[in-house]
Amino acid sequence: MLHQLHDLSEDGASRAVIASLIGAREPGHMLPAGLYTRADVFEADLDIIFHQHWMAVAVEADVPEAGDVYAVDIGRSSIVIVRDEEETVRAFHNVCSHRGSRLVQAGRSIVGKLVCPYHQWAYELTGDLFSAPHMGQDFNKGLHHLKPVALRNVGGILYACLSDTPPADIDELDRVMAPRLAAYDLANTRIAYETDIVENGNWKLVIENNRECYHCEANHPELCVSYFATDFGFDPADLSPSEKAEAEALADRYARQTAAWEEAGLPSAAVEHTVGVATNFRTQRLIIAGAGESQTPDARAACQIPLGTVGKGTGDTHLWGINSWNHMMGDHAVVITMFPLGPDKTLVRTKWLVHKDAVEGVDYDLETLTSVWLATNQQDADLVALAQQGVQSAGFRPGPYSRFTEKQLDDFITWYVERMSAHGYGR
Ligand code: FES
Ligand SMILES: [Fe+2]
Repeated sequence: MLHQLHDLSEDGASRAVIASLIGAREPGHMLPAGLYTRADVFEADLDIIFHQHWMAVAVEADVPEAGDVYAVDIGRSSIVIVRDEEETVRAFHNVCSHRGSRLVQAGRSIVGKLVCPYHQWAYELTGDLFSAPHMGQDFNKGLHHLKPVALRNVGGILYACLSDTPPADIDELDRVMAPRLAAYDLANTRIAYETDIVENGNWKLVIENNRECYHCEANHPELCVSYFATDFGFDPADLSPSEKAEAEALADRYARQTAAWEEAGLPSAAVEHTVGVATNFRTQRLIIAGAGESQTPDARAACQIPLGTVGKGTGDTHLWGINSWNHMMGDHAVVITMFPLGPDKTLVRTKWLVHKDAVEGVDYDLETLTSVWLATNQQDADLVALAQQGVQSAGFRPGPYSRFTEKQLDDFITWYVERMSAHGYGR
């Protein structure tokens, strides 16, 4: 009992510290250092952000056929996504109903039934318990179904929420994104390549790094072939007259191209739901610079078989979410998800999707397809590691965001503060 009281008061103290750090965040600035470094903050982030919000976890191409299983770890928890015999994609907590053993290791497998490695309880892909040896004749298997996880398929991207009361505003993401993603027909894609890298930084630094292109020109020579220097904001006072003219011409081109795409039935205008919401996201169809087709070394399509019905020269539908960033192009899609592993460790998972009939070496060259984001991810990982080293240094003070190029970070951190406050970590 005494021990328990001690734990409770420790928990209360830790909660008060986290709440005061959150309360100390100055608008327009980074978070106080402890929110990027402390073990208790990491645990609170898992409990609040990762266990109570919708996370991008997979794509339909992870489970293309009946019997396919794909397990994803989210913090301390894990979910198992299956395609059952009826082709329904379902998700369950990756926890055996007997004594709780993890059922399936992270990654892909093909099964007839989900069989627990511990005592061999076997589950149908519908989650129904099929057999449980030595539990007696009176044992009611009907009471020991696998616990379902809320799952939404938004145009081929699978979102899961571990909470029993998932935020309802996933409907808004679906309303905006389903029509945007329809033309890419992601359900009929195949994962051509996949990488997992561990970045040595807090997950919030990974997202902060992702929400700006302030760092792109100096750090991403490969990606910049397909990006415009002024695409992600600029201070007009810093532009030379010729740069200013270029930026104006690009803004003009965006207005005309966006209208033309929309008229052709391709939703393209920017939509931002970044603050004051539970399920944050931003999307826009971006014009690809240079050859205008794809994020490849020469900005031309890497894959000769187009995705769905979009065709070449239809830009890059970018989609940012709580734990993901995605680029849908005419010839392939890059889907990136991230999952926190520790206060200063984050898994970044990248999948390159091509049309399911595309054959490597015939319809696309793997290096051409993957090289831009392989390089970009490594460059970002290096930057995130530098940022983590900085936030855990004695001299760190939470610096200001540029209002011209870092508005999205400010929005993201504001969202984080809002969400943590809404869940009991407020002032
Ligand atoms: S814990 Fe799974 S069968 Fe016992
Ligand atoms: Fe970057």
